[in-house]
Amino acid sequence: MADKIKVGIIGLGFMGSTHFRIYKHDNKAEIAAVADVNPAKIKGNWSSIVGNIGDSDNSVPVDMAGIRTYTDGMDLINDQGIDMVDVCVPTFLHKKYIIAALKAGKHVLCEKPIGRNLSDAKEITAEAEKSEKFFMTAMCIRFWPEYSHAYELYRSGKLGKLVSATFKRISPSVHGNSWEDWFMKSELSGGALLDLHLHDTDAVRYFFGRPDSVTAFGVKGFRTDRGIDHAVTRYDYGDGTLIMSEGGWESAKAAPFEMSFQIVCEKGTVRLSELGYKIIYEDGSIDEPKPAKPGMPTGWHVEIDYFLSCVLKGKKPDNYITLEEMRDSMAIIEAEEKSINENRTIVVEY
Ligand SMILES: NC(=O)c1ccc[n+]([C@@H]2O[C@H](COP(=O)([O-])OP(=O)(O)OC[C@H]3O[C@@H](n4cnc5c(N)ncnc54)[C@H](O)[C@@H]3O)[C@@H](O)[C@H]2O)c1
Repeated sequence: MADKIKVGIIGLGFMGSTHFRIYKHDNKAEIAAVADVNPAKIKGNWSSIVGNIGDSDNSVPVDMAGIRTYTDGMDLINDQGIDMVDVCVPTFLHKKYIIAALKAGKHVLCEKPIGRNLSDAKEITAEAEKSEKFFMTAMCIRFWPEYSHAYELYRSGKLGKLVSATFKRISPSVHGNSWEDWFMKSELSGGALLDLHLHDTDAVRYFFGRPDSVTAFGVKGFRTDRGIDHAVTRYDYGDGTLIMSEGGWESAKAAPFEMSFQIVCEKGTVRLSELGYKIIYEDGSIDEPKPAKPGMPTGWHVEIDYFLSCVLKGKKPDNYITLEEMRDSMAIIEAEEKSINENRTIVVEY
């Protein structure tokens, strides 16, 4: 392998354009090709791209000189000059491109969620298990500096026994932000439950392992057609801890995006809120670490750099997430959906 990974990105929407900008500043990567069904985007006109976080100026044309461009992702996958495919298309298309890219002998990074449902996740991870190339879903919250820091601290045992944990993610409405408004079509996106709340379900799985059962409540069909727009879930581990998460995208368009968490342990509380990231100890002392490394302000930067390093070093990317954990989070999400729909506690079937 050369000293730079030749990357091809499929899908240049909010996430594809975010990844594109990160690769541009990562010296482990060279963007060799991009594919999008929208011809304006592959020519560098990104003025139609909108996202719920980040502050990129999409009105400025992007220089695509030296980058091969395709309107069909399969042509990019079959491009012999590409080592790694980054799948950033809408969720319902993930399985098709991930499996084709793995079969074509490429390393694959894919935006979350891994697929539209648990059955997709099982098919994809089975293909990844067979492949000699690497595969990872970009569960960016596992890599987000404050979440990573809190994970290491909690896992070190320094804070003592867990008492409670709450993870929260509140987005303004994303209606009108995406390609053909696919977020609003629950068949394609899985609604806010799969698209947004999955981040926190997966954080719960990451920090605390597999819950036995879930009890969830939700708002349905306000923004998304028939889909779940807001979920509040309790994850039961059978040990008396209170572990909850909440996520929704039904707020008004102008409402600000919020993500936060609080983990209470016997010796201290770890909290990320609009007031910053703090560790508040039982003796009253407070630490305010700044865990982001220079040039790596977000989990998107860290996850991409980590996957590139794995490919360059030939080291399997399972430090942050394993194939089993990718399936687990989808199994938990499906249990949450069933719990909301049937108004009862659901035992998670892994
Ligand atoms: N990690 C995060 O924080 C985060 C945030 C937002 C979205 N996402 C995920 O990223 C993925 C993409 O979401 P988005 O917000 O970028 O959506 P988007 O609608 O902004 O972008 C999708 C892009 O894919 C293109 N496209 C559609 N069909 C295609 C096809 N068959 N071949 C090639 N290109 C095609 C569209 O033209 C568009 O440019 C989704 O799976 C979403 O869940 C992750």
